[in-house]
Amino acid sequence: MLFIYYSLSGNGDVVAEAMKEKGYEIRKIETVKKMPESMFSRIMQGGFKASVGYKDKLKDYDKSLDGHDEVVVGAPIWAGKLASPLNTVLRDIDFSGKKLTFILYAGSGEGPKAERYVKKLYPEAKVIMLKEPKVFTSELEKIVL
Ligand SMILES: Cc1cc2nc3c(=O)[nH]c(=O)nc-3n(C[C@H](O)[C@H](O)[C@H](O)COP(=O)(O)O)c2cc1C
Repeated sequence: MLFIYYSLSGNGDVVAEAMKEKGYEIRKIETVKKMPESMFSRIMQGGFKASVGYKDKLKDYDKSLDGHDEVVVGAPIWAGKLASPLNTVLRDIDFSGKKLTFILYAGSGEGPKAERYVKKLYPEAKVIMLKEPKVFTSELEKIVL
């Protein structure tokens, strides 16, 4: 059981802690280039990258799913889509034959849009939406796998 995820501001890390307790192996992906520090620049740059489906260059990570029947992908929502570093993961890893779940964490809006986006890419996947789990820790109870 594997949880592979990205987190820019810590919500994904809170989810990772919960997944670790459930017995999942944790794999965090990181971009080679750092995101800007200011929220405004982050939203501008990240929002743009996510909307155009940009694939960030990632630091080396293990792309093998050997030994994992079940894979959970953790992604922040950026501009109603997956955070752009996830586009690279989805290009690099073939999830076919795996029990696949997406845990999406978002600020507020665009949740349904992001869910439709994922369902289009992976019709068989289960999608769980969480609202800012770092702030609202009770959201973690929605993780039923
Ligand atoms: C570039 C950018 C774009 C975002 N776009 C959305 C959005 O469209 N809808 C939304 O509900 N939240 C949006 N957010 C908020 C994040 O999805 C939310 O804070 C998430 O929990 C962040 O996860 P993290 O802390 O693991 O990085 C955006 C955040 C960033 C940085």
